[in-house]
Amino acid sequence: MTITSEELREKHVDFFKKNNHVEIGNASLIPENDPTVLFTTAGMQQLVPFFDGEPHPNGKRLVNNQKCIRTGDIDDVGDQWHLSLFEMLGNWSLGDYFKGEAIKLSFEFVTEILGISKDKLSASVFEGDKDAPRDEEAAKFWEKVGVPKERIYFLPKGENWWGPAGETGPCGPNSEMFFLISGGHAKDAKEFMERGEKGEICEIRNDVFLAYNKNKEGAFEKLSQNNVDNGMGLERTIAVLNGLDNVYETDLLKTIFEKVKELSNVGFNIDTNIKSARIITDHVRAATFLLGDPKGIVPSNVDQGYVLRKFIRRAIRHARLLGIQGSFCKQISEKVIERMNKHYPNLEKNKKFIFSELAKEEEKFSIALENGTKKLEKTLGFLKSAGKKELSAKGAFDLYQSNGFPIEMTREMCSEKGFAVDEKGFEDLLKGHQELSRKGAEQKFKGGLADNKEETTKLHTAAHLTIAAMKELINPDTEQKGANINAERLRFDFNSDERLTDEQLRAIEAWVNEAIASKAIVSMEVLSLADAKKSGAHGVFDSKYGDNVKVYTITGSNGKVYSKEICGGPHVETLAGMGTYKIIKQEAVAAGIKRIKAVLE
Ligand code: ALA
Repeated sequence: MTITSEELREKHVDFFKKNNHVEIGNASLIPENDPTVLFTTAGMQQLVPFFDGEPHPNGKRLVNNQKCIRTGDIDDVGDQWHLSLFEMLGNWSLGDYFKGEAIKLSFEFVTEILGISKDKLSASVFEGDKDAPRDEEAAKFWEKVGVPKERIYFLPKGENWWGPAGETGPCGPNSEMFFLISGGHAKDAKEFMERGEKGEICEIRNDVFLAYNKNKEGAFEKLSQNNVDNGMGLERTIAVLNGLDNVYETDLLKTIFEKVKELSNVGFNIDTNIKSARIITDHVRAATFLLGDPKGIVPSNVDQGYVLRKFIRRAIRHARLLGIQGSFCKQISEKVIERMNKHYPNLEKNKKFIFSELAKEEEKFSIALENGTKKLEKTLGFLKSAGKKELSAKGAFDLYQSNGFPIEMTREMCSEKGFAVDEKGFEDLLKGHQELSRKGAEQKFKGGLADNKEETTKLHTAAHLTIAAMKELINPDTEQKGANINAERLRFDFNSDERLTDEQLRAIEAWVNEAIASKAIVSMEVLSLADAKKSGAHGVFDSKYGDNVKVYTITGSNGKVYSKEICGGPHVETLAGMGTYKIIKQEAVAAGIKRIKAVLE
């Protein structure tokens, strides 16, 4: 290795700091308060409010290194360059410098700091359309720094317009830098594109001129200031700097990729299955990061949890293709943590949680995958003999519902055998199904619970103990600010300016576990709101429940009243057998609001 990823991260931050940029943090993979996207897809995500005039507390020139997830790239994973999780080296100008300075800094960093030969570089710029003019300006600046005119390619919006990250938001024409991997430079834009498809030319840096905002109507309006958003993929750059033709051999991914090879069945020729090995490497790495994120995402059927589930399930399927049987995710994930932990200490911290969630998902899916694969093969056999080329929506939906096959996986498996899938029909069936279960849920579930399993009820009772413990041990003014309960865990928000110390968290646990150990009983009485207040019950004293309210009291066998709270229920009748209460996480969710996650083990 001529340069390691650690050195590259450092060189990047140092260079931009020298050019008066201030370093900002590496944000969570789950964006705060941005409903337009599921994941942090680029370094600019955390800066969205500041591109339109709002001053950033750290000034107008910023730099960082940001972990990102791009679900749009998942289908391309398996080739040389695409990853669903990657790190972006970014620098920004918030209404400060614009195209000239951005291109100058980019070129200087790439050629002088990283030492990439000018002869290997080319650039692309926006060719213009009804929304924004042809970017002659950027082309001029590229020429000025030393990229020959014939190596500056004008490309359409599909290629040279970046953003918004979601449906709406900041965006603009961009200008990319490319490194020539093999052959000579392309003679025109058409050849340039074709060679790029073949992996002979690799994009290494993106200068976005964020001067526009895409609104709800789909129109592009000018932002109040001209911004620059520069990004450079860490893995790709490291590959290029070390003369590699793919990201899986870089120091970031090599040990993980090697582990996948090692686990695959002896005698199996990995080279013919390289795509599967790359998919496993990438997907388990992404799943490890998502599970290690302080936001506590777990596999599920919605939103980020669904993407996480897809990563794990697709990795399992490709592992089977390589002859890897049984549980294997932990062994790969260990390699991810080993390699990445220095820069991402959350991974080591949440290791137990990561491994247990991976194992749970493997257990859930392994047999279903085997049965579903057999079922699909049989169906495709029938279809083939009937001269058909498409799996029906019903077939795909059955695999989804009975075997937990994400639709993308069914599509992939069908396409490997030359079949299409009626995806439109599948979506309709899914919508109908979701509507039915939503209605069912509304009928069944009361008290803000996500489901009615015994576990959920226990955790609901644990929520009452949590707030009671906080009032007694921390501050009598502590109030519950929100709760979300499923069968796995209790998520509990409360008002507090400071994070609770480890000592306080342990004290809350001990308090709750003492109540459990005393086999306290839970009783319920219906009182008028006034009487409930007089009884000392806490809870929401408004008209939410009507004039009469239910008051739940938890009384220990020692006579101590642990909790008295107004609530809709349901609750367990006794704390005997509730297990051990444990707080697994604490995080800040908003100004003055903290959140804990607790489980019963
Ligand atoms: N936001 C730009 C990108 O993701 C830099 O490529």
